[in-house]
Amino acid sequence: MASPLLLFVLLPLLAPSLTFSLPLPLQSAFQQCLNNNSKNPVPFSKTLFSPAANSSVFTSVLSNPAQNLRYLLPSVPKPLLIFRPLRISHVQAAVICAGKLGFHFRVRSGGHDYEGLSYAAETESPFLILDLSRFRKVDVDIASNTTWVQAGATVGEAYYRIAQKSPTHGFPAGLCTSLGIGGHITGGAYGSMMRKYGLGVDNVVDARIIDANGNLLNRRKMGEDVFWAIRGGAGGSFGVIVAWKLKLVTVPKTVTVFNVPRTLEQNATKLLYKWQQIAPLLNDELFIRVLILATPIANSTKRTVTTTYNALFLGNSNRLLNIMGSKFPELGLTKKDCVETSWIKSILFIAGIPATVAPEFLLQGKSFAAAGFFKAKSDFVREPIPEKAIEGIWRRFLKEDFPLSIWNPFGGEMGRISESATPFPHRKGTLFMIQWLTASLDGNVSSARHMDWIRELYRYMAPYVSKSPRTAYVNYRDLDLGVNKKGNASFSEANVWGRRYFKNNFGRLVKIKAKFDPQNLFRHEQSIPAVRA
Ligand SMILES: Cc1cc2nc3c(=O)[nH]c(=O)nc-3n(C[C@H](O)[C@H](O)[C@H](O)COP(=O)(O)OP(=O)(O)OC[C@H]3O[C@@H](n4cnc5c(N)ncnc54)[C@H](O)[C@@H]3O)c2cc1C
Ligand SMILES: *[C@@H]1O[C@H](CO)[C@@H](O)[C@H](O)[C@H]1NC(C)=O
Ligand SMILES: *[C@@H]1O[C@H](CO)[C@@H](O)[C@H](O)[C@H]1NC(C)=O
Ligand SMILES: *[C@@H]1O[C@H](CO)[C@@H](O)[C@H](O)[C@H]1NC(C)=O
Ligand SMILES: *[C@@H]1O[C@H](CO)[C@@H](O)[C@H](O)[C@H]1NC(C)=O
Ligand SMILES: *[C@@H]1O[C@H](CO)[C@@H](O)[C@H](O)[C@H]1NC(C)=O
Ligand SMILES: *[C@@H]1O[C@H](CO)[C@@H](O)[C@H](O)[C@H]1NC(C)=O
Ligand SMILES: *[C@@H]1O[C@H](CO)[C@@H](O)[C@H](O)[C@H]1NC(C)=O
Repeated sequence: MASPLLLFVLLPLLAPSLTFSLPLPLQSAFQQCLNNNSKNPVPFSKTLFSPAANSSVFTSVLSNPAQNLRYLLPSVPKPLLIFRPLRISHVQAAVICAGKLGFHFRVRSGGHDYEGLSYAAETESPFLILDLSRFRKVDVDIASNTTWVQAGATVGEAYYRIAQKSPTHGFPAGLCTSLGIGGHITGGAYGSMMRKYGLGVDNVVDARIIDANGNLLNRRKMGEDVFWAIRGGAGGSFGVIVAWKLKLVTVPKTVTVFNVPRTLEQNATKLLYKWQQIAPLLNDELFIRVLILATPIANSTKRTVTTTYNALFLGNSNRLLNIMGSKFPELGLTKKDCVETSWIKSILFIAGIPATVAPEFLLQGKSFAAAGFFKAKSDFVREPIPEKAIEGIWRRFLKEDFPLSIWNPFGGEMGRISESATPFPHRKGTLFMIQWLTASLDGNVSSARHMDWIRELYRYMAPYVSKSPRTAYVNYRDLDLGVNKKGNASFSEANVWGRRYFKNNFGRLVKIKAKFDPQNLFRHEQSIPAVRA
C-alpha cells in the first residue's frame, strides 16, 4: 500500500499550500501533475475515469476491451483510475507523473493479455491504467510499402486500411482481428502468413516509444539495442509504444481458404499424426493450422474430439488441390471445401467470422466472439508427437467442459531467421506451436478443477515437447512459469521463466532494460527485471 503514507511524504513537494490539511488524494495530485507537465491541456472529463466519481462509465471503460474475464472478477483488485489520453503529450505527462508520484500503472492497447496484465495488477496497489485506445490512426503509404499504425488500433483495422489502399498488399500478424497492435507486436505476432513472411516483429522497420523520462523516441533515437528489445521482448517492460512502422508484404489478388473438420470417428488421430510431419515442410504459401475441441455427438450423450484443419493458401484452389493431393491426400480436401477470396476476406474467414459479415466490421475494432473466462498455456514441438500420446490428449479433453487446443505450423521463413535476430527465439527446428486452453462460462475456470486439469495436461505433455528449457510463447503469457514480486527479481530468479520465453536472448533483454529503465518504472509480474545479467 503506497498511498496514504507516500502522499504524506510527497505532499510538501506537490502542494505546499495544503501540507496542513488532509493528504491530497492521489487523483488530484495526478491531475495537477498532468496539468503541470503536459504540453497540451488535458480535458479530464474526456480522459479520466474513477470508480467512485464515474462508476458506470468506469466499469465499461475498464471491461470493454478486456479479453480474459477472469481478471475482472470482483475478487481481483481494480485500478484507482483509468487515464485514456487523447494526445501524445498527455501520455508523456502521464509517464512523468507516474514516476514523480510513485503511482504504479499498466499500459493497455487492445486488452488481450492472457493474464490480464494490462488491466489487473494483483500485487501493486494502488494502480492506474494508461489506456491507449484513442490512438488508432493507420497511415498506409503504398508508394513506400510501409504503414504507421498507432498502438490502440486493432490488427483488423490495420489490415482493413491496407486492403482499402491495395488488393495486393498485406501484413503478417495475428489471426484474431481485435488484437491491439501495441501489445501484440511486442511479443512476436504470429499469423497465417508467418511461414511465408515471418512474424509481425520480423516486419517492423521503425517505432515510436515513450521512455521512463517521458521522452518520445524513434528508432534512431532509441538506438538499435532498444529497437531489438521491443520487437519480441514483450509489452510493459521498456516504455510505452505509441506507434509501429510496418513493412507491407505482397499478397495475391486471389487466395484460397478452407475449414475441414475431422472427428475421432474420422481418423482424427492418424491425420493429426501425419499433419505434424508435413505441415511444417509444405510450400511457404500454405498455412494449415488445427483447432481441437471436444464436441457433442448427434443423438448421443457421448462427446468426441473434432480437429478442424483451418488453412490459408496464397494462391488459387487448383494449385492448392495439387499440393494437397500429393502431400496430404489423407485429409481428402475437395474443390467444394475451397473458398477463393481476397486477402482481406481471408482474414475474416480464418478468424471464424461468417462470410455474411462485411470486412467493414473490422473498423469497429472489437472482437467478434464474446470475451470469456480462460486459462491457457503454450508449448513448442520439435519432434512429432506419437499417436499413443495423442490418444492421451483426447482422454483428457473428453473429461473437461470447454477444452481447446490450437496447433500452428512453423517452418518456411520461420526457420530461416536466426534465434537472436529478435528476442523471439523459437525458430529453426520448431515444427509447430501448441496453445492449450480451458474456458468456462463463469468465474469457475479459476477453480481447482479447471486449473488442475490444464496443469495436469501440461505435465503429461512434458516428454513430447521442447526441453531444457521447455519453451513458451510470451504473448500467451502464463504466470504459472514464475512471477517477479512487485515487478522485481534477481537475474537468476527471473531467468527461470525468462529463458523459457526468450532462451539465450533473456540476458541481452535484461542488460538493455537495466540501461533504458534502471528505476524499473515499467514493470509487472513478468516484466524484464532491471538487474545485472
Ligand atoms: C482471442 C485472442 C487471440 C489471439 N491471437 C493471437 C494470434 O493470432 N497471434 C499472436 O501472436 N498472438 C495472439 N494472441 C496473443 C496476443 O498477441 C497478446 O495477448 C498481445 O499481448 C495482445 O496485445 P493487446 O494490445 O491486445 O493486449 P494488452 O492486454 O493491451 O497488452 C498486452 C501486454 O503488452 C503491454 N502493452 C500493451 N500496449 C502496450 C504499448 N503500447 N506499449 C508497451 N506495452 C504495451 C501490456 O501492459 C501487457 O503487458 C491472442 C490473444 C487473444 C486473447
Ligand atoms: C503544479 O504546479 C504548481 C504551480 O507551479 C505547483 O504549485 C504545484 O505544486 C504543482 N503540482 C504538482 C502535482 O506537480
Ligand atoms: C470523473 O469524475 C471526476 C471527478 O468528479 C471528474 O473530474 C471527471 O470529469 C469525470 N470523468 C468523466 C469521464 O466523466
Ligand atoms: C513495393 O513493393 C512492390 C511489390 O509489391 C515492389 O514492386 C516495389 O518496388 C516496392 N517499392 C518500394 C519503394 O520498395
Ligand atoms: C481411416 O483410415 C483407414 C486407413 O488407415 C481407412 O481405411 C479408412 O477408410 C479411414 N476412415 C475414414 C472415415 O476416413
Ligand atoms: C438424430 O435424431 C433426429 C431425430 O430423432 C434425426 O432426425 C437425425 O437424423 C438424427 N441424427 C443422426 C446423426 O443420427
Ligand atoms: C460455479 O461455482 C459455484 C460455486 O463455487 C457453483 O455454485 C456454480 O454452480 C458453478 N457453476 C458452474 C457452471 O459450474
Ligand atoms: C530489485 O532487487 C534488487 C536486488 O534483487 C535490488 O538491488 C533493487 O534495488 C530492487 N529494485 C527495486 C526497484 O525494488
